[in-house]
Amino acid sequence: MSAPLPPAAPLPPDFIRAEDVLSEGGLRPARVRELDQRYGNEELLYGLDLLGVGGPFYRVTPWELEDGHGVRRINASGYAAVPFGEMPPVITAFLREYLEKNRAMGLPQQSSAPWRAALQANLVRLLARELPSHSDSQVFFCSSGTEAIEGAMKFAKAWRPRAKFYISFSSGYHGKTLGSLSLTPNPEYQDIFRPLVPGAVTSPYGDLEALLTLVRRIGPDNIVAIFVEPIQGEGGVNIPPPGFLHGVGALCRKHGIVCIADEIQTGLGRTGHWFESAAQGLDPDIITLAKPLGGGMTAVGATMVRQPIYKKMLGGLSSKRHSNTFGGNSLGMAVGLRSLQYLMEEDLPARSLRLGSVGLERLRALQAQFPRLLQEVRGQGLLLAMQFQPVVGLPLPGTLKEFVYEGTALLALRELHEAGVMGNLSLSSKRTVRLTPALDMPEDVFDRMVGRVGNFASRNPASRHLLTNTPAALTAQLAKFAASKPKKRTTSDG
Ligand SMILES: Cc1ncc(COP(=O)(O)O)c(C=O)c1O
Repeated sequence: MSAPLPPAAPLPPDFIRAEDVLSEGGLRPARVRELDQRYGNEELLYGLDLLGVGGPFYRVTPWELEDGHGVRRINASGYAAVPFGEMPPVITAFLREYLEKNRAMGLPQQSSAPWRAALQANLVRLLARELPSHSDSQVFFCSSGTEAIEGAMKFAKAWRPRAKFYISFSSGYHGKTLGSLSLTPNPEYQDIFRPLVPGAVTSPYGDLEALLTLVRRIGPDNIVAIFVEPIQGEGGVNIPPPGFLHGVGALCRKHGIVCIADEIQTGLGRTGHWFESAAQGLDPDIITLAKPLGGGMTAVGATMVRQPIYKKMLGGLSSKRHSNTFGGNSLGMAVGLRSLQYLMEEDLPARSLRLGSVGLERLRALQAQFPRLLQEVRGQGLLLAMQFQPVVGLPLPGTLKEFVYEGTALLALRELHEAGVMGNLSLSSKRTVRLTPALDMPEDVFDRMVGRVGNFASRNPASRHLLTNTPAALTAQLAKFAASKPKKRTTSDG
């Protein structure tokens, strides 16, 4: 190997060298914060700081993180996108080998590419094992969940060009780019961007009768597609009643409406199955995947589509009608492939189902012990949720109630961090904190994590303690911060 060339020109004195970031000592946590706040999303970081999770965080083990003050916590955060923890050895070892041996082009874009070829073949074969009707389906890769949804919207529209309406469900979450945002019925995120994609309508999640009525009202031929999460993640872990998904599938099949299962959060093991839709009796036309496919290290999204629908949009000379630069890049595909291999070799979906049911039982016991803190616990696999009683129990008028409900989740999350566990807020829900630990978290670490949730509950036996245990000055700062948000909020989930 030849030595690196000396730089052609001296770097500006304030240039931050990659080697300095790598050495950590070269860019200390306080400086990271300063730079991130000055040049990035300052307000968000301020809010997270109030919750004690402004970071930066560093890996201790794949499942434990340390902040700039040396405080360690078990990581049950990561919004379901960290399937094997931080810098998982199985992926880092493979990456070393990849960097040493790989000769395939990095950004193949339109040309054929070995890593993409292997990953798409494996994904389709895996899907066809669960749903044989997908044996000739095809894959379109991208670099995020929202982009996988944008692709799905376009595939469906190209298939049914005369139809004008897209149906998604209340509390659903499909992303925040303009197309996917149209399907995410949350006024807080949508309102100032109107008009969005025309024709996006919402039906109550889990209510088949309401969906049938809506479809009748619009007219089935006018409907492009129905987008459904088999279990809602950002909505606060909502499991639909038995028969709902099957009914959605039957309705779509009867009228030729494109059925799209958004498995970006649930898919590849999070809820204990390879594809939650298939496990619940749905055979969708399109499945979107993302989060865990990047192994927690890279960004990979995928839209898996039945062949005729795929070819309708990307047939013949139209095959460039939808494209991107980075989808299918070799590094992403290689990590995706190794991640899928690890998921399969260890049968991590089955492990997720098993470990998750142990976790849920323990959370249920906590709920029974502390009903004035925990209104409800829900979950499947390693997608677990705690819904809290509001910190103010009195009946409150509209906006104030939403404000208190939202504050409840923020205060709970802060206390949970104090107890040594990192959790997730739920973007389309209130009063709900989710736990999404790595699918391969060792049982003793998982056990400690649930134990710490127990400590958190003992310290806050009723939700008002979330308020009284938070320093008054901090509560005031949090209230001021929360009040700065737009007045129009999602309607309450409880
Ligand atoms: C079900 C679902 N769809 C879509 C998305 C959007 O994915 P991304 O954040 O990668 O754009 C998410 C993200 O949380 C999700 O949970």
